[in-house]
Amino acid sequence: MVARITTVAFQGIEAVPVDVQVLMTPGKPVFNIVGLPDKAVAESRERVHAALHASGLALPAKRITVNLAPADLPKEGSHYDLPIALGLMVAMGAVASDAVAEQVVLGELSLDGRVTAVAGVLPAAIGASAMGRGLICPAPSGAEAAWAGEDLAVIAPDSLIALANHFSGYQVLSRPLPAIRSGADALPDMADIKGQESARRALEIAAAGGHNMLMVGPPGAGKSMLAERLPSILPALSPRELLEISMIASIAGELTDGKLTDRRPFRAPHHSASMAAMVGGGTRARPGEVSLAHNGVLFLDEFPEFTPQVLDSLRQPLEAGETLVARANHRVTYPSRIQLVAAMNPCRCGNAGEPGHSCRRGPRCAADYQARISGPLLDRIDIRIEVPALAATDLIHPGESETSAAVAERVTAARSLQRQRYAGLSKVRANAQASADIIEEVAAPERAGVRLLEDAATAMQLTARGYHRVLKLARTLADLDGAEIVARIHVAEALAYRALPLELKAAA
Ligand SMILES: Nc1ncnc2c1ncn2[C@@H]1O[C@H](COP(=O)(O)OP(=O)(O)OP(=O)(O)O)[C@@H](O)[C@H]1O
Ligand SMILES: [Mg+2]
Repeated sequence: MVARITTVAFQGIEAVPVDVQVLMTPGKPVFNIVGLPDKAVAESRERVHAALHASGLALPAKRITVNLAPADLPKEGSHYDLPIALGLMVAMGAVASDAVAEQVVLGELSLDGRVTAVAGVLPAAIGASAMGRGLICPAPSGAEAAWAGEDLAVIAPDSLIALANHFSGYQVLSRPLPAIRSGADALPDMADIKGQESARRALEIAAAGGHNMLMVGPPGAGKSMLAERLPSILPALSPRELLEISMIASIAGELTDGKLTDRRPFRAPHHSASMAAMVGGGTRARPGEVSLAHNGVLFLDEFPEFTPQVLDSLRQPLEAGETLVARANHRVTYPSRIQLVAAMNPCRCGNAGEPGHSCRRGPRCAADYQARISGPLLDRIDIRIEVPALAATDLIHPGESETSAAVAERVTAARSLQRQRYAGLSKVRANAQASADIIEEVAAPERAGVRLLEDAATAMQLTARGYHRVLKLARTLADLDGAEIVARIHVAEALAYRALPLELKAAA
């Protein structure tokens, strides 16, 4: 008789059912796992063997074959240990087969028989719930699984023995409770930033419409400081957004103790990041920084220091809102609707264009440095601003700076207008994400605004994308004003943000 257990394989953030079939036949004692297992799955054999032994369930001296079906679907990761062990327990008669018939099982085993945490429990739980089954997962991931819905039955044992006791009714495990990690440590506040009024305004606009932004300025002007304060003014996550980002974090194994976080992601990878780290992939399919920043901010400090290939790999996710990772034998997509914030110095020495600064390497230094950022990538950035060095008087006698809470109030008001506007569209939540035809409809400016846009489009040689991005930004500016119609003044301000800072013109 073949014992069957259902588990899952992950394709992107989707859990695809996998059937674990265990067969024990008389013959030479061997233990084989077939069905396109990767190395971690193949090693599962040793862990399962030891864990069963430690739990007092020695494997019989028989020929054991474990098949993971469908055989052409690649199986990655260590979460196949528990379903394989459970299949063996059923085949040995230690667990009744109908006890596990309506379950999805995943978990890793340690040699002493404990069930340890694995990545991807949340998507697996959501998959199980969609299949109308229950879930058996490791105890540390139980809180995560409980998020998938109240009707989902979750069994979260900490060891094989605990699971066997549960099935025998000796010690029944209770359903774990969902847990959330609410931001205990306060985010840095906008009130810390002295001066830099125009940069603060730009940051507010970027937050209000989800726009991509580039800051150019000399060292120590406060660019990194500004970017780090963006999360403090972003709107709260909707329950759906929370679930989306948690699924990605779960697949990446970044949810500690199974707790979800209610903060928007803010990812700031170092400029030495590789392509696999940025967009995902590698030997094990894993979401990259662009996907981990889904529904949040991807901050690239020292923008031109990233390798040009890595920067250009962002072009597709920025446009499509998802990342496609093609691998040797299959392709996966991860959601990656991000807001890109980048910061850079105008040249390698850092001070090109500053009053009173002269450099022996002259304008070439700046041009070479900035040429590392391709035109198409720049074209996707709606707000480009200069952040000048702070005057000493601003530092020593600063005026009162507004707090994040005050700014966030205006941002939230503008975002709620957008939420109503795009209520019928599942993929659009802010102006920056609207498609060309939608934005032409909702951001049609008044007559004077159209005229200004026409003139500017010719003078600035706007691309079609550039034209639509100006409209999106103008829509956000009108939303911040609470205005229904996009006025000339909104178009004018949007165009000003589109204009490249002086030195960057040379590069583009
Ligand atoms: N506007 C400001 N208000 C208050 N402090 C500031 C401001 N700008 C800079 N500082 C101080 O200078 C430090 C460095 O600023 P920050 O790291 O943001 O500069 P940067 O523009 O990112 O420089 P770099 O180009 O070298 O990365 C901050 O930690 C802060 O102490
Ligand atoms: Mg910096």
